[in-house]
Formats: sequence, structure tokens, C-alpha cells
Amino acid sequence: MALKLIVTGGAGYVGSVCTAKLLKAGHEVVVVDDLSTGHADAVPEGARFVEGDAADATASLLAEGFDGVLHFAAKSLVGESMSDPGKYWRGNVFTAIRLLDAMREHGTARLVFSSTAATYGEPEVSPIPETAPTQPTNTYGASKLAIDHAITSYARAHGLAAVSLRYFNVAGAYGRYGERHTTETHLIPLVLQVATGDRDQIQIFGEDYPTSDGTAVRDYIHVADLADAHLLAVQHATAGEHRIYNLGNGTGFSVRQVIETCRDVTGHEIPAVAAPRRAGDPAVLVAASDRAREELGWKPEHADLHDIVSDAWHFTEKRRRA
Ligand code: UFG
Repeated sequence: MALKLIVTGGAGYVGSVCTAKLLKAGHEVVVVDDLSTGHADAVPEGARFVEGDAADATASLLAEGFDGVLHFAAKSLVGESMSDPGKYWRGNVFTAIRLLDAMREHGTARLVFSSTAATYGEPEVSPIPETAPTQPTNTYGASKLAIDHAITSYARAHGLAAVSLRYFNVAGAYGRYGERHTTETHLIPLVLQVATGDRDQIQIFGEDYPTSDGTAVRDYIHVADLADAHLLAVQHATAGEHRIYNLGNGTGFSVRQVIETCRDVTGHEIPAVAAPRRAGDPAVLVAASDRAREELGWKPEHADLHDIVSDAWHFTEKRRRA
């Protein structure tokens, strides 16, 4: 069924890929983005674009009548969330509550929300199921968890059909849509910057973790697979329920393994140096995504790290040539 949807943050990395896939599937999409971190030229062709705040601009649009909102717009730098927490409580939590109130006012039925593995904090079990305790170790994760709680109560009280998707480490690219953060903190794009010559070396944050090679382990998921889960989520959302799904491949790769894969894909030697641990980084974060597979019928198609890095590299090279 074709739906009329608003995508907040549709000029950003994950939001633009999801918008492109929603359009391809025949849905009608209006992108709302304040361009604080997104790029106007990343809004996919075929989407209507409204520049503005994720709550205010969306509230004005909702009166036109929409089937649902996919809410990606957020502040997402873990380090910044510790030094400037207000930006995360206001920018993430307060914005989301205003958005929920506007959806309630206009009777908008469905919500798909970008949550995060950071809601779990330092895991007690691995891979992490959705039933694991949520003990975020940073304000970013705490802000996303607070929104998850708010969504649960709005769904129960007001009949909202809601799904939160807890992303593990998103990477890769989809056609002309990929990662282009002005402040880049993520491992794969930083390593690829060494391959392009924009950076001299990559720092390995911690070599004394209790892992096979001493470096931290993460579950990397292709952004196209992540987007597919959003398409399934918006279709499966059920009135009065808030469902939560972890999205990852269930396999962890260490920082050293990621760097090695980047060397393999780019043919560049990529110098790496040891550096202290980054504050708040758990040793291992791997998702148990059985629930998304079973209930949504989600099946990642690009689980291979080599494929994920290759797509990120092609995107990086194409942009450099453009
Ligand atoms: N790392 C390095 N060197 C770098 C950058 C990162 O060694 O220059 C390491 C990190 O310490 C970490 C791993 O590479 O061990 C992955 O780091 P990323 O910054 O790419 O990703 P994170 O696992 O820290 O964070 C991601 C999301 C966050 C989210 C978190 C948990 O980007 O938004 O997963 O879900 F909060």
C-alpha cells in the first residue's frame, strides 16, 4: 500500500537513503530537514523538501493529512552529548515530544523512530537482544531512550502505531547517498579519508580491550539493509503498539579487522597508530536481530563487511571526482 509520509532528517545520511528507497517503493515523501547537519542536494529527487525544524515544520505539514512520520532528525555525536547535554535533551527529546503532540493533534497514525544501540550501554550479554537492560553510558543514548519511553506511553494512551529501530554501526552507501558529515567521528569514513590522502593515519582507540586482537568490536550494518527495515516497519506498525527492533548483522568486527578490510578494498596501506581508549566506548557491541527477522521478515542482503566498505569507498571516490 502506497503511503503519504514525512521523513524528518531526510537530507542526512540514513534519512536520504530511506527516502530514496521509500520513493522507489511507490510511497509519497515530504522531507523536513533544518540542514544543520544534512545537505539539500542529498534530498532524493521526487521528494518534496521543506527546510525547517523537525517538530515545527512537521506540525504545520501534518494538517495536510499524512499516514505517518519517519523521524530521523537528531543530534548524534556521543562526545558532544557529554559536553553539551542540553543540546541533546532539547534537540532530541523536546523535539520528539513536540512531534508526538503534533501527530496526536492531527491523528497521524504511524511513527518509525531512529533509536540506537547506545540505549543499552555496556552490555551484560552478547549478542544484545531487545530484552537486555537499558543503561546508556552517554547522554546521546539516554536522550534516545527517553524518547523510546515517551513513544511507548503515547502508543498505549493514544493508539499510535509505533516502531523504534535500534541501529548498531551503520556504514556503506546507496547510489549517490552516503555518509558526508562535516564533523566525522565514525571509523569507516575516517579510515577511508586516510586512503584518499585527506588524513595521514588512523588512530586505534584502545588496544587493550578483552577481545581477540585487543581492539573494540562492532556490528556493522549496510545502510541499504537498514533502510529496508524502515520500509517493513512502516508497513507492519500496529495501532496502540510500540515495537522495538535491534538492527545489526549479528557478527562483530574489530577495529583492526575494519582497517584491514579497508586496506584490501582501497589498495592503500593506511597507516594506523595506537591511541588511548575513547571515553564511554564499550568493548563489544553486537546485535541479536532475530526479532526483526521474525516479525518484520527483514533479511539483510549486504552483511559482508567487504561489500559494506566497498560501497562506502565507491561513494567516496565518486564524490571526489565530481
Ligand atoms: N574508532 C577508532 N578510531 C577512530 C574512530 C573510531 O579506533 O578514529 C573506534 C571506536 O573507538 C569504536 C569503533 O571504532 O570502538 C567504532 O566507532 P564509531 O565511532 O564508528 O562508532 P561507535 O560504535 O562509537 O558509535 C556508533 C554510532 C553511535 C552510537 C553507537 C552505539 O555512531 O551513534 O554506535 O550504537 F551511539
